[in-house]
Amino acid sequence: MRNMTGRPVSEEDFFNREAELADLWRKLETDHILLLAPRRVGKTSLMYKLMAEAPQRPDTYAIYLSVPDIDTELEFVERLYRAVLESPQATSRLSRVWDTLKSSSIGKFFNRIESVNLAELFEIGWREAKPEDWETLGRELIHALRKLESRWLILVDELPVFVLNLIKQDPTAARARTFLYWLRQMRQMPPPEGERLRFLLAGSIGLDTVASRYRMGDTINDLTIKTLGTFSPATADQFLATLGEDYGLDLTPEVRQRICERAEWLIPYYLQLFFSGLLEICSDERAVPSVEMVDEVFEVLLSHGRRSYFDYWHQRLTEELGSPQDEWASALLNACSRDAKGVTRQTFAATLSRHVSDTNQRDETLNWLIDVLIGDGYLVEIEGRYRFRSSLLREFWHRRFAQ
Ligand SMILES: Nc1ncnc2c1ncn2[C@@H]1O[C@H](COP(=O)(O)OP(=O)(O)OP(=O)(O)O)[C@@H](O)[C@H]1O
Ligand SMILES: [Mg+2]
Repeated sequence: MRNMTGRPVSEEDFFNREAELADLWRKLETDHILLLAPRRVGKTSLMYKLMAEAPQRPDTYAIYLSVPDIDTELEFVERLYRAVLESPQATSRLSRVWDTLKSSSIGKFFNRIESVNLAELFEIGWREAKPEDWETLGRELIHALRKLESRWLILVDELPVFVLNLIKQDPTAARARTFLYWLRQMRQMPPPEGERLRFLLAGSIGLDTVASRYRMGDTINDLTIKTLGTFSPATADQFLATLGEDYGLDLTPEVRQRICERAEWLIPYYLQLFFSGLLEICSDERAVPSVEMVDEVFEVLLSHGRRSYFDYWHQRLTEELGSPQDEWASALLNACSRDAKGVTRQTFAATLSRHVSDTNQRDETLNWLIDVLIGDGYLVEIEGRYRFRSSLLREFWHRRFAQ
C-alpha cells in the first residue's frame, strides 16, 4: 500500500471499507443512491472500488463519469456515451448497445457500425449532435443499456458541481431543474427493465444542499441517501500499521494512538497526511517515529506551505453556498475556531446578528447554516455546543482566518 495524500486511491492502495461496500451493493439491488460525505472522506476512491468489484458480480457492468468541468447538458450526455464506450468491462456488450441504438434517432451516427471502430465512429457522429438533442440522445442510451439483460451501475461523480455550473448560466435554476428532472426520469422505470440499471450519484459538494438551496428537493427525493464516515479506531490503527509495514517504518502502538488522537477525525486522508509527515522527518533524520514527532507533524501540517491540504474547506464554502451566505458561514466558523470546546447557539446567533438583522430570518438562516456545516463535516454538536469535528481543521481555520 502506498502513502497517497491527494488523488483518489485504487487497487492495493485502497484500504478496507468492506462493510460500506457490502452495504452499497445490497442497497443497489433495489435503490438508486446519493452518496454523501464531507470533503476528502474517500467517496471517489469508493466509487473506483465499486467499479473494480463490478466484474466479480454476476453479469454486472459499472461505468464511471466525473463531470465538474462541463457546462452543458449535451456534454453530460457525451460523457455518458464516452464512459460506456471506454469501459473495458462493457466492451463485450458494446456491439449490442449500439445495435439497439442503430434503430433510434442517433442511429444515423452509427449506420456503418459493422465496418468501423466504434470509438472512431462516435467521434465522427457526435459532431452532428445539436445542443437541444441532449434529452433524446441521453434517454436513448439509457434505454439501450436497459434493454440488455445485464445489470448496469452508472457512477456519477461531482454532479453537484455540474448543477452549479448550469445555475451560473441560468440563475433562475430552471435549467438545472429540467436537467435534474430528466435524470430523475432516467431512474424511474418499472421492472424488469427498471431493475437493470442503477445510478449512484456523489460529489465533493452535497447535492442535497444544492437542491435545497434552489428549492429543487423534489428532483432528488427518490434517491436513497447513504453516508460515508470515518474509519473505526480499530481500522485506523490497522491502516497505520499496514502503511508502517509497507514502508519499513516502525509505528509503535503509542505512536499510532497519538496519530489517531491528533487527527481526531479518523478519515483515511488525515491518517495518510500524518504518515507522510512522519515519513519525511524519519527519512531526513534517519530517526524512529515517536509520540513527540507526531506532535511535530501536526504543526508541520498546519504550516503555510501545506495550506493546500485544507484550503478547499474554505473554497468549497463559496461554491456551495454562494454570496453572502458563504461569508456568514465563515463568520460562524471563525467564532467557533476560537474555542476548542466549541460555542453555543447563542454565540452563533450573536455572530450572525451582525449580518442578518431580522430575528426570524436570522433564526431560519442559522438553522440552515448549522445543518450545512454539520452535514459537510465542519462541525459536530456535543451537549449543546458546536465545535469543529477535527482539531486539525479548527487550528487551520483559526490560524488562517480568525486570528
Ligand atoms: N479506502 C482508502 N484507503 C486509503 N486511503 C484512502 C481511502 N479512501 C480515501 N483515502 C485517502 O483520502 C484521500 C481522498 O480520497 P478521495 O479523493 O477518494 O476522497 P473524496 O471524498 O472523493 O474527496 P473530495 O470530496 O475532495 O472529492 C486520498 O488521496 C487518500 O489519501
Ligand atoms: Mg472525490
